[in-house]
Amino acid sequence: MFAKYSNQKEKINFEEIEEAAQKIQNGELVLFPTETVYGIGANAFDEIAVKKIFEAKGRAGDNPLIVHISNLQMVNEIVEEISDLEKKLIEKFWPGPLTIIFKRKSKDVIPNVVTANLNTVGIRMPSNLIAKELIQRAGVPIAAPSANVSGRPSGTKIEDIIEELQDKVSYILDGGLTDIGLESTVIRVEENKINILRPGKITKEQLEEVANEVEVDSHVLGKVEKNEKVASPGMKYRHYAPNTKCMMVYSEDEDKMISRINEITLGMKQEGKKILILAKKKNLNNYISEIKWNMGENLNEIAKNIFTLLRKVDKEQVDLVIIEGVGRNGLGLAITNRLIRACAYQYEIIN
Ligand code: TXA
Ligand code: MG
Repeated sequence: MFAKYSNQKEKINFEEIEEAAQKIQNGELVLFPTETVYGIGANAFDEIAVKKIFEAKGRAGDNPLIVHISNLQMVNEIVEEISDLEKKLIEKFWPGPLTIIFKRKSKDVIPNVVTANLNTVGIRMPSNLIAKELIQRAGVPIAAPSANVSGRPSGTKIEDIIEELQDKVSYILDGGLTDIGLESTVIRVEENKINILRPGKITKEQLEEVANEVEVDSHVLGKVEKNEKVASPGMKYRHYAPNTKCMMVYSEDEDKMISRINEITLGMKQEGKKILILAKKKNLNNYISEIKWNMGENLNEIAKNIFTLLRKVDKEQVDLVIIEGVGRNGLGLAITNRLIRACAYQYEIIN
């Protein structure tokens, strides 16, 4: 069965969004854009529909889904309570790319399959107009993970994911390239402290404007050891990684970073190996490898491009991909978090 495709790139077609919303109500899956990445969504109240998402993605059952809402009434239905700090965060960052992990209501409003049996639930209110309309018209919260087969980079445009997902959904809303390109910031609030479980467009610095204490979970950059307990199940899983071997090299001193990348390239070249470099536009000319791709000019552009680039890497048939690191400031933390995983923790940081 193939999905109905609706082009919403140039102009929003509300009739077609309405059709897609009916699919959600009927317990079917819809591929839709958000401001971060595409989502593969189902009615969050419908256990059977949500199970289809796990099947479509090949997702582990212990990895909970984010519930997408379009108004605050939907939140009140699902969560036990909203603390003062959470209220402030909602006011400042919703609608937008921030997922808050709340304590869920004790009676089962949201089925256990959505939250992987946790007593918490991750909620966000997307700002993308198509996403907002879809949820509003469906009249129910939509459970949606990133639209990609588990382990693959998240989809930031339909062209990248159509092959792997078109026969798994009933409707595709194509909103073009997503604005941000990386998934939402996921946080947990404990009293007056914010814990960042997954960094994203809403940065640590922005969260510090609202809370006195903001901590980055140790697994955001650190490796998860076997059987280690994690604050967010998604941290455990292999993610974003091409089949080709990748490594990240970073130094605050760009000359040092470039020299080191050229040194590795030279050594590999002498062994007859092919190297692909992913670098910022301004640095491309400094690299001795013949194959090099532009990641973008700045952090916003790199965030937007990185998943598409990672998806293309395997087609190039090289022996090693070397990716320039971007540091940890602002959006850099989110990009670094994705790159470290794409490189299966193979990275060098030079002082
Ligand atoms: O931007 C986004 O967040 C996109 C778009 C579609 O909204 N969604 C997304 O979903 O990235 P997904 O499923 O790919 O990633 C959700 C992450 C996972 O790492 C999951 O473990 C974590 O959020 N998560 C969800 N509910 C949680 C909970 N109750 N406690 C801890 N972590 C949770
Ligand atoms: Mg994902």
